[in-house]
Amino acid sequence: MALGRRVSTARRSRAIHWAGEISRPWIQRSPKGEKWAIRRKLIKPSFDVIHIANLDNRSLGRHVERLMDLIPRDTSTVDLMPLFRRLNLKTGIGSEDNHFRIIDEMAKATQDRLTLRFQMHNLFTPAHDGAAITLSNAFFHLSRNPGAWAKLRAEILPTKRSSITYDLLKTYGYLKNVIHETHRVTPLSTLISRQCIKEVVLPSGGGKNGKAPLYVQQGDVVEMNFRCTLRDKEFWGKDADEFRPERWDNLMPTWEYTPFGGGPRICPGFRLVSAKTAYKMVTILREFERLESRDDRPWTEDTRATFQNLNGCKVALFPAQTV
Ligand code: HEM
Repeated sequence: MALGRRVSTARRSRAIHWAGEISRPWIQRSPKGEKWAIRRKLIKPSFDVIHIANLDNRSLGRHVERLMDLIPRDTSTVDLMPLFRRLNLKTGIGSEDNHFRIIDEMAKATQDRLTLRFQMHNLFTPAHDGAAITLSNAFFHLSRNPGAWAKLRAEILPTKRSSITYDLLKTYGYLKNVIHETHRVTPLSTLISRQCIKEVVLPSGGGKNGKAPLYVQQGDVVEMNFRCTLRDKEFWGKDADEFRPERWDNLMPTWEYTPFGGGPRICPGFRLVSAKTAYKMVTILREFERLESRDDRPWTEDTRATFQNLNGCKVALFPAQTV
């Protein structure tokens, strides 16, 4: 891809949000985007079928039970990150005994082995690492916020004996806030770029303060930096650097919050990964009344396929008293 002028900077993010929002065909990663459109058409229906079906499938429950067996009950220190990784390897995009598998769904649309192999490879990294690191980050933050853990328990305990279905998860508002806040403070992906295929004037992003219109010419590469938007004090408030799930009670972000991207290219796995993250968190919350941090070091970035905490997620879990 021949790159033109690079108009990126973190402060341009507003304008770039807007560019994504209207989802015009003139901002695309490849010059015309046809390859992407074909690929997207192939994977999108598969996700729509799978994300709900697999949640109610017994195999996810079985794998999570295995994870529960590995968590010490004697309040000794455990690093949850490798445990979540192992779990997600089993449940990420359709393990052998899952009833609904992405590969089967995609095979309904194409029989081309090379295309199917390429797509599965493309899905494996986010499915494996993304979900595990999200869980690890969530438990990292919760271990430092005992009030948030207690509030989550209070929310989910009244339905402790119900099966964890997609509909039940939708009723947990504070859990949703915690997951949103985890992605906001510790996003897994931090940069998206697009090449402009037709000149345009974006409504903001130009000038010294980024508030003037911004001319983008054909061939320019526009980059959107999540690190900037997800911690923008102008939108999130003075405490934007802190983990505070309550902020979501009164906020309705649009292009200020894009951990999964946005517009037509938004991550197709986001509902799947959100539902599974919630499922696993609820299972652990039901069983442990307290979560304690066993690591004084701050979250320290380690750059791999995604961004993760260098020191993992070292915590202790205290089993709830059974009546
Ligand atoms: C917490 C976990 C995840 C995060 C934060 C995440 C984030 C993202 C982001 C930021 C994009 C780029 C969107 C854009 O270009 O506008 C993306 C694309 C994508 N993600 Fe995810 N993702 C996650 C999990 C998953 C999972 C579990 C799968 C598959 C099972 C998946 C499959 C994909 C695919 C196939 C694309 C490319 C879509 C396209 O080009 O149309 N992601 N993801």
